Amino acid sequence: MRTDTGQVFRLEDYRPSDYRITHTDLLFRLDPHATLVTAKLTVERRDGVAANAPLVLDGDGLVLESLGLNGAPLAGEGYTATPDRLEIRAVPAEKFFELEIVTKVSPVTNKALMGLYQSKGNYCTQCEAEGFRRITYYLDRPDNLSTFQVRIEARKAEAPVLLSNGNPVEHGDLADGWHYAVWHDPFPKPSYLFALVGGDLGSIHDTFTTASGRKVALGIYVEHGKEPLATYAMDALKRSMRWDEERFSREYDLDVFNIVAVSDFNMGAMENKGLNIFNDKYVLADPETATDVDYAGIEAVIAHEYFHNWTGNRITCRDWFQLCLKEGLTVYRDHEFSADQRSRPVKRIAEVRNLRSLQFPEDQGPLAHPVRPRRYKEINNFYTSTVYEKGSEVVRMIHTILGPEKFRAGMDLYFERHDGQAVTIEDFLACFAEVSGRDLTQFALWYHQAGTPRVTVTTSHDPATGDFEVNISQTVPPTPSEAVKKPMHIPLAFGLLGPNGDEMEMGSVEGAEVNDGVIHLTAASQTIRFRGVGSRPVLSLNRGFSAPIVLNQDLTKEDRLFLARHDSDLFNRWEALNSLFVEALIAAAAREKEGKPHDFDAALVEAAIEIAGNDGLEPAYRALALSLPSEADVAREIGNDVDPDAVRAARDALRREIGGKGRDAFRRIYDQHADSGPFSPDAASAGKRSLRNVLLDYLAAAEAAPELAALQFETANNMTDRAAALTVLAHQFPEHEATRKALAAFDARYRDNGLVMDKWFVVQATIPGAATLERVKSLTAHPAFSLMNPNRVRSLVGAFSSGNQTGFHRADGAGYQFLADIILSLDRHNPQVAARLATAFRSWRSMEEVRQLEARKALERINAEASLSRDVKDIVERTLA
Ligand code: TRP
Ligand code: ZN
Repeated sequence: MRTDTGQVFRLEDYRPSDYRITHTDLLFRLDPHATLVTAKLTVERRDGVAANAPLVLDGDGLVLESLGLNGAPLAGEGYTATPDRLEIRAVPAEKFFELEIVTKVSPVTNKALMGLYQSKGNYCTQCEAEGFRRITYYLDRPDNLSTFQVRIEARKAEAPVLLSNGNPVEHGDLADGWHYAVWHDPFPKPSYLFALVGGDLGSIHDTFTTASGRKVALGIYVEHGKEPLATYAMDALKRSMRWDEERFSREYDLDVFNIVAVSDFNMGAMENKGLNIFNDKYVLADPETATDVDYAGIEAVIAHEYFHNWTGNRITCRDWFQLCLKEGLTVYRDHEFSADQRSRPVKRIAEVRNLRSLQFPEDQGPLAHPVRPRRYKEINNFYTSTVYEKGSEVVRMIHTILGPEKFRAGMDLYFERHDGQAVTIEDFLACFAEVSGRDLTQFALWYHQAGTPRVTVTTSHDPATGDFEVNISQTVPPTPSEAVKKPMHIPLAFGLLGPNGDEMEMGSVEGAEVNDGVIHLTAASQTIRFRGVGSRPVLSLNRGFSAPIVLNQDLTKEDRLFLARHDSDLFNRWEALNSLFVEALIAAAAREKEGKPHDFDAALVEAAIEIAGNDGLEPAYRALALSLPSEADVAREIGNDVDPDAVRAARDALRREIGGKGRDAFRRIYDQHADSGPFSPDAASAGKRSLRNVLLDYLAAAEAAPELAALQFETANNMTDRAAALTVLAHQFPEHEATRKALAAFDARYRDNGLVMDKWFVVQATIPGAATLERVKSLTAHPAFSLMNPNRVRSLVGAFSSGNQTGFHRADGAGYQFLADIILSLDRHNPQVAARLATAFRSWRSMEEVRQLEARKALERINAEASLSRDVKDIVERTLA
């Protein structure tokens, strides 16, 4: 395993390599324990580089079998090979030369799931970010663009399917039951986009005709017998391909596009050129086993990886500091795709909830880093929600600032100017500056400064003059990356609501650039005056969450209730109600600590009940509006000295209160929205199910009885309703006989299906309360659980540590110690996933004192382990700093 060497990589140290590999010819002879890899590299010395400059290639745990230069074996004095590096000093004088490297790797023992490994007996690869160097010595950096030709040889019985990037060239039989296939990728690409698959797989096939009339063969490869479960993914793929043509004029460029689903995978999926490899969680679905959330996830991830073909592959990153160049932009594109395919406001609310629950805590804790970091020790630890989700928000702000036409012109210029290149955030921004004539220097701070900006707003209205004054100030809190911050360019979409709830006309505006419904905040503090505003308006600000900030606005409860009823911006309508819930829960948690009874505002409870029955709003939207902020949401708003048990009691009480008052109405709506007819995963049907399932949670709380949930569990004809009922049972009635029965029935029915058992693990791992730790510990011994499979680890241990406030943050520290044990044991074979788990400690300093001490103990115990991986060491050190 790669242990920590303390090396730090810095953005300012970037320099091009002395040599380039322009063509890569690979031969694989697949064997579980001893795969031979022969790499013939065409190497070019860059102009101006001295003829005797050594060629230094990256490796990671490699065993060199042989080495040749221009067709002749290379003598031992000419080079130095270690597992991590190959240095060739005997470089020939010509500008071009050929290097032949033979390495031997063992896929079956590769449990880190990086490089060439096996999943359920099938060979596959994962090379981003630095996995290719576990296959052969190479210039394993994204600015080395090479064409690839790949020949795969395998035992035909073991691996009848042989795939790689690009287009198929030829295939045929060899002696002794072996066969081969050759693939050629004409598009120069960095090594992180290399992929190979060899195995005994089933598949489904389709075709797509591009806008210009080229026919593309599409294939999705899955475990035998699972073919029918890939049809939704295939449909999502075709819709993605069409959407990218219509929205961005981006056409697909190869003759084939293949997707392979594997069950052991460190993340969601990987955009390898022409051969995407997926965590099977994001491919396989049918009504029996997948929830509506799973379907939406498949659609989004299929789109995301497909969109990378242009934003990531055709135009790639100069270095890993530029990761957001491809990830932030591609997330923005998949968000827009899903918004177009489903409900835009519902999608936006879900995005913001996700951003707040994952990115905000990151930005507000010890792991905070800029969207474009300037230093890293382990790049795997920077595939974060800041780079992905905040990176997407930054692109969305460019769209808001420039408007749709200029934004599109900027994208067109980017594609035209940088196709085939490895570029930087500066290159990207320059395209938008150029087409709009705007100076984006201040805006670029969104890439360079970490931390969530806090924006404070006060307003005053003078009925005599008709002046409406808005004072806005911003601060960005210090983070480990920068102690002092500069004011940012914050685009705030807004509207003024008149007394009848209509949008108000506004006269002239001064004090800031204000156009197209957007206030451009650029100074630390600004006063904006609207003239000719007859009566006091209610300011609806940061509409559609136009900027990823924390907003403190001087709105009264009545203002918020007014916005919740009348705002034409559906995001802000949701936001108004949500902020009232958060406030109510913070107050209730404080009362809980003082032993006082609850006194929830009747108007708020009324508003919630009213929204449930508002037929003018789509069911999915109503479901979101009725979903109370999570315990973690409330904890984050409290900020410090958090007592999770008080938060949980407050949330339970508010749910009981709303459920009790809304009981009859909720029951009526619940019955009205019962599914009729066969299951369909479309957004409207899914919306009805989600409304119904939110109401089920309230009804069970109001009745303090599991019968309705138990009935739904037994009669459900789809996984969405079954899993929702199981969650209500387990979370509200963990010790009840009905819950015990349901959990056992689910286990009996699905124990051989890992993906479905993930739901069973999540449900149990997130049962509130101190007792859950013992349950989670015993579930680690369940036959469906395995520390070798990242999905299982995430669904049991990940869900517990990052999704169970009262269980993980037990006051006695036992939750922390359990996580430390798992991290230490996992780190021995899969550092990447172990490091990801360790990020659950990131908010430890916001807990009350007793828990802080316990968390520190656990972190220090991990840190004391001598052979810690670079991945875990980096996270733990930054968390403790
Ligand atoms: N680039 C991939 C995506 O977002 C994610 C990815 C990065 C990944 N590193 C990985 C996936 C390692 C699996 C393993 O689209
Ligand atoms: Zn991506």
